[in-house]
Amino acid sequence: MSEAQSTDPLPKYLQENEITQECLELIPTLPREKGWVASHLHQYQGFWHNTRQLQGVLSCQKHFQAHNTDIFIVTIPKSGTTWLKALTFSLLNRHKYPNIQQNHPLLTHNPHFLVPFLELVLYQPKDRDFPPDLNSLPSPRLFSTHLPHVSLPKSIVDSSCKIVYLCRDPKDTFISMWYFTNRLRLENKGTNSLEEAFEKFCRGVSLCGPFWDHVLGYWKKSLEEPEKVMFLRFEDMKMKPACVLKELARFLGCPFSEKEEGAGVVDEIIKQCSFDELSNLEVNKKEKLSSGEEHKAFFRRGEVGDWKNHLTDEMVEQMNTITEKKLAEDGLTF
Ligand code: A3P
Repeated sequence: MSEAQSTDPLPKYLQENEITQECLELIPTLPREKGWVASHLHQYQGFWHNTRQLQGVLSCQKHFQAHNTDIFIVTIPKSGTTWLKALTFSLLNRHKYPNIQQNHPLLTHNPHFLVPFLELVLYQPKDRDFPPDLNSLPSPRLFSTHLPHVSLPKSIVDSSCKIVYLCRDPKDTFISMWYFTNRLRLENKGTNSLEEAFEKFCRGVSLCGPFWDHVLGYWKKSLEEPEKVMFLRFEDMKMKPACVLKELARFLGCPFSEKEEGAGVVDEIIKQCSFDELSNLEVNKKEKLSSGEEHKAFFRRGEVGDWKNHLTDEMVEQMNTITEKKLAEDGLTF
């Protein structure tokens, strides 16, 4: 019997008090698989979430109220979320913090602190103020999420907020996820082998996977509602960052003026948010998120094509075939 159909009693961690009754009752009804780190993955609305994330998904679906002026950064984990958070924060706050070298929040705070996740941070019931009152935050409010489109809180779908979706070649996303999750595994648990993780990823069993369904959901929405959903690629951000940043600014309704462009503001923001600059800040070398992950775990290599150093020819073929089968029909290629 596969783990997805397992009838084992629920693991002990599910009894912890950060899990609501609603979530506790839901979990046994969902397909379940062994996760990449400690917790199990549960399949909810077609996508896989660890227990903490599932709790957050349910809570924000129930409580979060979008405003028309909100901006959401949406990704599947390891697509470049940290980078896009830094760029978007810097872009939106460029008039408030004109001097990038002095008193800029990015110098002292990790981008995940500045642009919090709905389901992983704001809607975790163990926090003291739950559900949080986000109404007094200044507009535009900037949030992030890994939620697939089908699981977004209804008010996000119904409002005229903006969604910026970032995706990355699944082969690089997979390698990045493999390194990241191995880093999070407790020492006595050893590492997940590349082969084991690859098999899971290809079956869709990865955080917020299936990767392809996640990407496709937002790709289709970006075609249907281009004024609401912008679709970005990590590879384009690497190759032509100024172009992408300017497009993003236009999409968010805060285009760079000619004067700003002439003064080098675009290039300054790109440099400030570059892998080298961010990863060398003390805050990103030494500190941790409140959820325990070290900031430095979010900065590994930041390159395109690292999969070439890890995947066999057969693995590449297998992954490319899935990508072609799932995405090519809708005009999406990697
Ligand atoms: P690698 O593991 O391939 O190096 P996320 O932010 O979604 O968790 O994604 C993490 C990936 O983005 C990691 O990829 C990380 O190195 C890369 N990354 C982080 N900051 C970056 C930056 N400023 N520029 C480019 N890549 C960056």
